[in-house]
Amino acid sequence: MAAAPMTIAPEVTLLRGFAAPTRPIVLAIEVVAALAPFRHLKTPGGGTMSVAMTNCGPWGWHSDARGYRYTASDPLSGEPWPPMPESFRALARKAAMRGGFPGFEPDACLVNRYVPGAQMGAHRDWDELDKRFPIVSVSIGLPALFLWYGATRRGRPLVTRVEDGDVVVWGGSARAGYHGVRKLAPGDHPVTGALRYNLTFRRAK
Ligand code: SIN
Ligand code: FE2
Repeated sequence: MAAAPMTIAPEVTLLRGFAAPTRPIVLAIEVVAALAPFRHLKTPGGGTMSVAMTNCGPWGWHSDARGYRYTASDPLSGEPWPPMPESFRALARKAAMRGGFPGFEPDACLVNRYVPGAQMGAHRDWDELDKRFPIVSVSIGLPALFLWYGATRRGRPLVTRVEDGDVVVWGGSARAGYHGVRKLAPGDHPVTGALRYNLTFRRAK
């Protein structure tokens, strides 16, 4: 039986264990990364992200000196992003529904890889065309602290521990919410070893 959805904030829902078991997801991530390797993107400000990223699906999120955008092909290879596994689509669709957003069909899956010490500063996911679609965020491997800032990037965030298989869904009035991930603590997870992965499903176009 799936755990009852938990409300982090209005229209921000935690689905504990919704994506478990995660071993098949990790195998699929390894297939994606064999085609489109993880890389540390540059921010428009000239920094380098501590989280390594790749993508699957029709659109992939990219950042460099020119800014943030979605691309249809991997800028490293010029090849289309690897296909999004059907199991990923189904997971995102079902999680969105459970989080109160039926009818979600993702066309982008950003894959984040955290090593201990990696973090994600307060930001919002705002490069997508149609903000009526939610964001579906799947945690895999080492636990992390997910930070929900809400309407502004300042102030003290709501802190939620996200563990292997947990899914967070936000949309509607929360779609513009600022969020981040605190510096990952070291650990050893049975599925991922010393890593945390995160899948972020979006409707980009
Ligand atoms: C993100 O905001 O893109 C990542 C969230 C997470 O890693 O849990
Ligand atoms: Fe995000």
